[in-house]
Order: sequence, then C-alpha cells, then structure tokens
Amino acid sequence: MGREHGAGHHTPLDSTFSLDINRGTTLFQQKGKVRFVKQTLILIVALVVVGLLGWPEATPAQDSKLVQEGEAVYASRCVICHGDQGDGKGLTGIIHRAQKNGLVINIYPRDFTAGVFKFRSTPSGYLPTDEDLMRIVTQGVARSGMPSHTDLSAEERRSVIEYIKTFSKRWQEEDRHGQPIKLGQTPDFVGSPASRVRGRKVYEAMQCARCHGETGRGDGSAAETLEDNWGEKILPFDFTSGALKGGSSPDNIYRTFVTGLDGTPMPSYEDALNEQDRWDLVSFCIQLMKASEYGS
Ligand code: HEC
Ligand code: HEC
Repeated sequence: MGREHGAGHHTPLDSTFSLDINRGTTLFQQKGKVRFVKQTLILIVALVVVGLLGWPEATPAQDSKLVQEGEAVYASRCVICHGDQGDGKGLTGIIHRAQKNGLVINIYPRDFTAGVFKFRSTPSGYLPTDEDLMRIVTQGVARSGMPSHTDLSAEERRSVIEYIKTFSKRWQEEDRHGQPIKLGQTPDFVGSPASRVRGRKVYEAMQCARCHGETGRGDGSAAETLEDNWGEKILPFDFTSGALKGGSSPDNIYRTFVTGLDGTPMPSYEDALNEQDRWDLVSFCIQLMKASEYGS
C-alpha cells in the first residue's frame, strides 16, 4: 500500500494535512525533551565508541550542542521534505516522478524513523558511517530530488547528521556499523576490454539482468514487480538514464553491489564475488553506462 500522502490527489496545503503537522510539532517538542535527556545518557556510554566514529574528541556536552545546532539546520533545510518527525512526510510530498514503460514511480523523501539507509560503505543491514552520511548530505542524491548541500559549512552538515540520528533508536544499538568495506585503489585494468568481457560473465552469472535487463536499461523480467521497504514501487537502475544515486565513480559502483542498497530490492553480493569479479563487474557497469554522458 502507498503512504498516506502517496495517492497524489491532495495538495500539500490540504487542511487535514496541516492539522497533522501542527499536532506533530507539539508532540515532537515534548518527545524532543525526553529524547534529549536519553540522548545525553547514551552519549556518555557511547563515548568509547565515539573514537571509532571519527568525530574528534567529542564530549557529551559538545555532542548535545551539536544535536541542537543540527535541529536548527534541519528546520531550515530538511524539514520541508523529510518532515518534522523525520518520517519523510514533509510538506512537499512526492519529490520526483520517474516514468518507464508506462509505469510511474514516485520518489519520496527518506523516512529516517526506520534507520534504513541505501548508500553505505557498511555491510547489508548495518547503519551507515558518518562519512557515508556526510557524502550524501553534501552531494545529494542524483535522479531523486535530494539536493546537494555544499553551501552548508562542514560543522552545519555534521550537526544535522547528528540530529537525524535522533529519529531512530537504531543509532543507539551497540554494533552500529559492522565492518565498513575497504576500498583500495581502483585497479588499472578496470574499464579495459578484457575486464569488460569478464564483467559481462559476472553480470550474467549473478543474474543482474533479472532486474536491470540484458542491456542494462532497467527492464528485466522482475523490474515491474519491485517494491521498497516503504511499500512503494521502485525501478531497477537504468544504466543509460544518468548518474548513480550513490555517485558514479568506479569505487561508488563497486560499493553499490558489494553492500547492496538497504530498503530496496538491490541485494548485496559481498559473499558471492571475489575481488577480481567485483572490479570486472565495475568495468561492465561502466560499459553499460557508456551510452550516456555519465559513462567515463
Ligand atoms: C527537496 C527535498 C529534500 C530536501 C530539502 C532534503 N532531502 Fe534528503 N532526501 C530526499 C529524497 C527524495 C531522498 C530519497 C532519495 C532516494 O532514495 O532515491 C532523500 C534521502 C536522504 C537521505 C538518505 C540517504 C541514504 O543513504 O539512504 C539522507 C541521509 C538525507 N536525505 C538527508 C537530508 C538532510 C540532512 C537534509 C537537509 C540538510 C535533506 N536530506 C534535505 C529529499 C530531500
Ligand atoms: C532484485 C532486483 C535487483 C537485482 C537482482 C540487482 N539489482 Fe541493482 N538495483 C535494483 C534496484 C531496485 C535499484 C534502484 C535502487 C534505487 O533507485 O534506490 C538498483 C540499483 C543499482 C545500481 C545503481 C545504484 C545507484 O547508486 O544509483 C547499480 C550500479 C546496480 N543496481 C548494479 C547491480 C548489479 C551489478 C547487479 C548484479 C550483480 C544488480 N544490480 C542486481 C535491483 C536489483
């Protein structure tokens, strides 16, 4: 089933919807206080872990200040789409419509309350690292309407990242990241004719075509039946349609099929492919993208 505002009939100014928003704000402020106290407690416990996250020498006091700053950034830059509850139900509603083979796909702002993220360097099922979130918030998400935020200072982006973590309890779980994948140098053979030929075999063996189609146009036999975790129809990437959402460089392509895109039918192939297979598959993906300006 679609979301409440998924039918596409009502306008964002619909009165029921505005009422909802008002109630949401009050609730949110109360919850915010409880959450704030909880957050402080948890941050004390999490201090040991903080080092692993890469935020330099944060103290609980500094961190809660960061969350507060982030709340302000969120209110001015994110709430319109992601909503004051972080559930993706901001005033804007549908952000982007993709059309394909007669199928209309709506793309909504992400619901942060589920704590599920697509573009990660971490294994399937784990939360992204702060670096992953920083990349997405900074660059935005191509083909989706999620804007880049290069005009925000690094501090503002860091703070808003801390703030969006308050929407899901998952961020308080102990093992939040698993082991992020290591992305070394892109090997020289990537993109070579021999590697592309080997990559095509991997693409066939892994049955990527079931979703993405033989020629990578997103028209595989399963394409029209796919849904995301939020119950919305979702299209497999059409390699000729433009930039990758998670970034189009070889290491971004590599990351996509190694970690998978959580919340979508795009699986992780971490266990199925060795290092050589992975880079050969990158070569073949680049070949599929060649038809567009984004293929390098
Ligand atoms: C114009 C609407 C819009 C605005 C403004 C916006 N976003 Fe988004 N955001 C989206 C959409 C749409 C997606 C879903 C992209 C997708 O999955 O294809 C998204 C996804 C995300 C994701 C999920 C990335 C992942 O790996 O799954 C994060 C994190 C995010 N936005 C953070 C922010 C932050 C922080 C701000 C404010 C600084 C912000 N967004 C402002 C529309 C918006
Ligand atoms: C069960 C269907 C399915 C299979 C099988 C599948 N994919 Fe996907 N893939 C998807 C969907 C759906 C998306 C789009 C996710 C989105 O737009 O949020 C996607 C997106 C992608 C992207 C674009 C990511 C981005 O950042 O925009 C790449 C690259 C990709 N898949 C490669 C592969 C490769 C290579 C294989 C085989 C090893 C494969 N996929 C197998 C469903 C599938």
